[in-house]
Amino acid sequence: MRSSKWVRQSHRWLSVAFTVTVLAAMVAVSREEPAMWVVYLPLFPLVLQFLTGLFLFVLPYASKRRAARET
Ligand code: HEM
Repeated sequence: MRSSKWVRQSHRWLSVAFTVTVLAAMVAVSREEPAMWVVYLPLFPLVLQFLTGLFLFVLPYASKRRAARET
């Protein structure tokens, strides 16, 4: 599998993980005295989502530059 395809798949599945952790955090906050680690849990998939998202953002510009250099 090409690395760009692999990153896109990761970004897609991280969005599911991120949504689940946000829902878990919302349920935890609605109860009394939530554990702080549950509240901060969405940050972990969000950081990975940000990094893979940046890669996906740069991808079309990088391939345009590469194509221009090859011609
Ligand atoms: C944190 C910063 C994020 C950045 C910088 C980012 C950036 C991007 C970029 C550049 C794309 C590709 C768009 C294209 O096709 O050209 C993308 C796709 C996508 N993003 Fe994000 N994103 C971020 C966070 C999220 C979050 C929080 C979610 C959902 C919870 C999400 C869900 C998706 C999905 C489902 C796609 C489509 C993936 C596919 O093509 O299969 N992203 N994102």
